Amino acid sequence: LSSVEVDISKIQPGQGIKTVWRKQPVFIRNLRPEEIAEANKVSLAELRDPQTLADRTKPGKTNWLITLGVCTHLGCVPLGIGDGENKGDYKGYFCPCHGSHYDTAARIRKGPAPLNLHVPEYEFASDTVVRIG
Ligand code: FES
Repeated sequence: LSSVEVDISKIQPGQGIKTVWRKQPVFIRNLRPEEIAEANKVSLAELRDPQTLADRTKPGKTNWLITLGVCTHLGCVPLGIGDGENKGDYKGYFCPCHGSHYDTAARIRKGPAPLNLHVPEYEFASDTVVRIG
């Protein structure tokens, strides 16, 4: 009942959509190969909240980055999806409220936010449908 199914078939590499789950914004992004490479070249020692892109995605689907669109500082909605992509100093998301920069894996890299954008529970119902929750 509390899950939502989203058709991802029209999301091209480099694009993303915003959806809503449990009244919270969710970002679904289809990462380009360059964005995946950018995320994978970062060492965990550089990260405030150390997680690999693989930790944050499903096996064999590391191009699909699904996170809450809620800044982990004080809860603003970061920019970087549907309003111009690759925002901020780390080419992911940028929260304009107090200047938190997230990288292409939506990991916090700079600014006051303590944690990466949260990855909700989800599964692939098929190759083109994601079930969140
Ligand atoms: Fe995002 Fe403060 S709410 S930086």
